[in-house]
Amino acid sequence: LVAFFAPKLLAGQRVLITAGPTFEAIDPVRGITNLSSGKMGFAVARAARQAGAEVTLVAGPVHLPTPRGVRRIDVRSARNMLQAVEGQAQNASIFIATAAVADWRPANAAEQKIKKDGSGEMPALAFVENPDILATVAQSERARAGQLYCVGFAAESENLLDHASAKRVRKGVPLLVGNIGPATFGQDDNALLLVDAQGHRELARASKAELGRQLVAEIARRLREAPA
Ligand code: CTP
Ligand code: CA
Repeated sequence: LVAFFAPKLLAGQRVLITAGPTFEAIDPVRGITNLSSGKMGFAVARAARQAGAEVTLVAGPVHLPTPRGVRRIDVRSARNMLQAVEGQAQNASIFIATAAVADWRPANAAEQKIKKDGSGEMPALAFVENPDILATVAQSERARAGQLYCVGFAAESENLLDHASAKRVRKGVPLLVGNIGPATFGQDDNALLLVDAQGHRELARASKAELGRQLVAEIARRLREAPA
């Protein structure tokens, strides 16, 4: 009852979230992707919506139902994702980048399916770096003016605190959320490490749904303490 009458934590906020992997084409039938399930990002989207925000979710290829009341834009590649995000960021007050964006894409996707030519020779793949969606948004005028609060995620396989702290500074975001991967990919629970300019705090292992709610509360508190 108390929760029902309490003002919602993110009432009036417009939250933009990226989630899932991206898929980078090699040819029309093949590509490069990763094992991100999108579950953490979808859980954050659901929690933000339940906290009263207007939520737009830009999703790479995932197999998940859209949380109730959330607007969803499906994309495939990192460049598609950047384009969708740039189209929405103007209207957002919070940006949360949970997507596992492919760092590189094949330099020249073939227009037709690549065929074995019988010589036994392997096709050589050349790569180019994808745009950094989070860094691009974090450097935008609205983010730098404090009108768009940016949150990054990082899955690390070791030295979580060191890597997450360095990444927070490198990306230019006030809050970076670390987790130890890839063991958590596709799982229903996780443990998070929140790193900001003040220090760090752990959100103990729990379901992604619960961690989504806790993260929303942490973001709401930071916005209250340092209003845009
Ligand atoms: N990110 C992004 N666009 C990219 C790469 C990453 O928006 N091209 C975002 C992710 O959504 C995440 C954060 O940046 O919120 C950190 O992603 P991560 O892959 O951990 O960082 P990288 O800078 O790519 O560093 P590395 O993979 O080498 O650890
Ligand atoms: Ca990366």
